[in-house]
Amino acid sequence: MIYTALIGHGVVGSGVAEIMTKQEKKLSESIKEDIKLKYILDLRKFEGLPYSDKFINDFNIILNDDSVKVVVEVIGGLHPAFDFVKACLQKGKSVVTSNKELVAEKGYELIKTANENNANFLFEASVGGTIPIIRPLTQCLVANDIKEIYGILNGTTNYILNKMIVDSMDFDTALKLAQNNGYAEKNPASDIEGLDACRKICILATLAFGKHIYPKDVSCEGITNVTLDDVAYANNFGYVIKLIGKAAKEENGKISIGVAPTLVSKDEIISNVNGVYNAIMVKGDSCDDVMFYGRGAGKLPTASAVVADVVDCAKHLGARKYISWEDSEEGFITEPLNSISYYVLCQNNDFSSLKNSFKDIAENVVKSNINEDKNEIAFITKPVSKDLLNNILNSIKSNSTKTYKII
Ligand code: HSE
Repeated sequence: MIYTALIGHGVVGSGVAEIMTKQEKKLSESIKEDIKLKYILDLRKFEGLPYSDKFINDFNIILNDDSVKVVVEVIGGLHPAFDFVKACLQKGKSVVTSNKELVAEKGYELIKTANENNANFLFEASVGGTIPIIRPLTQCLVANDIKEIYGILNGTTNYILNKMIVDSMDFDTALKLAQNNGYAEKNPASDIEGLDACRKICILATLAFGKHIYPKDVSCEGITNVTLDDVAYANNFGYVIKLIGKAAKEENGKISIGVAPTLVSKDEIISNVNGVYNAIMVKGDSCDDVMFYGRGAGKLPTASAVVADVVDCAKHLGARKYISWEDSEEGFITEPLNSISYYVLCQNNDFSSLKNSFKDIAENVVKSNINEDKNEIAFITKPVSKDLLNNILNSIKSNSTKTYKII
């Protein structure tokens, strides 16, 4: 018998308990040994559930029970999650988590601890919810040099942007709906300000490029400044606005990485990735383009990925899965080197002077017909370096200027 324990009975935790209870027989058959959830650590009481007898409120019961071989951490945040996970790994217990903050901030240390104690630390659900992406990157695509990874990595913001685009819904109402559906983080600021997506692209880039990339080193902009006007301008130009996380290996061998609202052509597949769905595009030197798609958040979709990791740990008790990477390195991250096109929005009464300033980088600088009273112009540039664009923007007078990249 393999016993497991669950730390946290929130949205994802309750999904894990539900699946592990409902699928106990199927999971046991897959492992070829019985597997059972023994403890659920949560300070709250949950009566009337088929597994209500499993609740405990002392972490040491899990830590000191040698029959517990796999522990699931789904409380989120850094503390006490880090302390619990590290203590379990040091005892030789394998740990599964959906906690992207934990992996993005402490993954290097925890993987090292797992290695030293012949245990596994798996985190498939930390990126893309239900989507298999960690295992494909570290196993199925391992024969490739990864060139680029980008995608929609946050379900809450994709849900909000989709509501703005399709229903012209205001931001706050859409955020409330996402929260009611259990998609948002406890503190939704990390969703809407881009930090959640930033942690996820850091995890993917770390795995793809072999050195730990910390969120503090990555440029990150959320969707709080995206307006219904931007959505309408983008639509007029043939684009939709998505929050995109992207990491690429540049020609100098360094990694460019960032998260920002981005205009995606309606011809691109990911322009049709809507609602809570996520999509991750991976480009490798042999496989070329591969796309991963599915529900990026929510109770059962995320729990499905967590339970798959539990099964993997149970199948590899005493054997390592060999996921590892090096610690971060100064100078590993760079600005993107390629020229790209931008969406530019600015305001100025002197239209002919604006048009003149942008004449070398944009052919169709026309007055907006969306907000004529604001003297606003919005346009798409030719591919241009960020430095050249910034030089022009610094030389003009504009009450408010906004630029978003285009892919
Ligand atoms: N808040 C996250 C999202 C949950 O909306 O994508 C899944 O990581």
